[in-house]
Amino acid sequence: AGVFTYDPGFTSTAACDSAITFIDGEEGVLLHRGYPIGQLAADSHYLEVCYLLLYGELPSAEQLELFETTVTKHTMIHEQMHNFFRGFRRDAHPMATMVGVVGAMSAFYHDSTDINDTWQREVASFRLIAKMPTIAAMAYKYSIGQPFVYPRNDLDYASNFLNMCFSVPAEDYVVDPILARAMDRIFTLHADHEQNASTSTVRLASSSGANPFACIAAGIACLWGPAHGGANQACLEMLNEIGTVDRIPEFIARAKDKDDPFRLMGFGHRVYKNFDPRATVMKQSADEVLELLGIHNNPILQVAKELEREALEDPYFAEKKLFPNVDFYSGIILEAMGFPTSMFTPIFALSRTVGWISQWKEQLSDPDLKIGRPRQLYTGATARDYVEVEDR
Ligand code: CMC
Repeated sequence: AGVFTYDPGFTSTAACDSAITFIDGEEGVLLHRGYPIGQLAADSHYLEVCYLLLYGELPSAEQLELFETTVTKHTMIHEQMHNFFRGFRRDAHPMATMVGVVGAMSAFYHDSTDINDTWQREVASFRLIAKMPTIAAMAYKYSIGQPFVYPRNDLDYASNFLNMCFSVPAEDYVVDPILARAMDRIFTLHADHEQNASTSTVRLASSSGANPFACIAAGIACLWGPAHGGANQACLEMLNEIGTVDRIPEFIARAKDKDDPFRLMGFGHRVYKNFDPRATVMKQSADEVLELLGIHNNPILQVAKELEREALEDPYFAEKKLFPNVDFYSGIILEAMGFPTSMFTPIFALSRTVGWISQWKEQLSDPDLKIGRPRQLYTGATARDYVEVEDR
């Protein structure tokens, strides 16, 4: 047998080199191509950050315009793909629908599945970034029995998404600019996060030469879990279960109890051990949105605020360096905006698509790319002879 490093959970193994995102978990630093996330969230916007992640530099005004126009041109999905949505049960989780529909894109867009053709890779990138909001919104509309709303290319990326989710043919719907800004910030803050589980999944899938739509579908599947992208949904469900402020101590006690598997959802992070720089910006956004919508009396949001306060004062959470992560606050914002909890993770998925694609493109440009093939420490039976069924 060979000699391997045993590293379950890959806590100390670098599987690739990358020039896209830098994280210093101790210091709470997150940089995309060198630019701090706080500056990008405050002064840039999602599509510009997409360009930065994909191409390594901030775009000139002309480059940005061209990029935005190109992405916008791809927002519609093939009309025949509507049939896929109709094949799902209405109560399907939108993530289940998205895994299926995005995987199925390989069956429609044959002219962007050849990974050895750099132009096809570009087209696949544009298609995925442009179509993910359409697919997520369609999954939502389908689940509530409303007609699909086609994308509107006169709206910006975030406003178009809100319009596809919340407009109905019978009524005029006008996107509030503050909500559009908050939506754009959620997209920006989730755009990339170096080698997290779903990104590593995309890289592993791609290392075998799989097509981009298959790779991104694999990323969506991995993101779904409650320890990763599913945390925002799990967090809101937990807040609902807590229900009232007086029950918070009971849940904090459960989170601290070693014999109880319960964890405070939306708290803690594998890499950030002092604070999550995305959460700082997201908290500010949450305050703005709650102020705008005037829903200070929403009991769930009150529970969230009080839980944050009580957990941060508790020595257990301080000792273990557990604090609210980005999903704690994004869940609150999405709840206030009127999204059902089942849409929280699809929104994370559409935001992270650019990160997955940037990492996928970076990986494919590596001339020494090897198929990902972890080893194992075998703990099973030693060699033994087969026994006929009548003799067992
Ligand atoms: N509530 C209570 N205790 C916790 C929590 C929590 N949320 N998170 C970690 N701990 C405890 C854990 O029990 C362990 O205690 P001990 O050392 O006594 O055994 C210690 O803290 C370290 O936990 P760990 O599981 O070894 O830490 P990890 O780095 O493997 O896990 C995590 C990170 C994010 C999976 C975990 O903190 C967690 O499950 N959090 C809740 C889910 C969540 O909010 N996830 C979203 C992460 S941010 C978005 C994303 O990246 O997708």
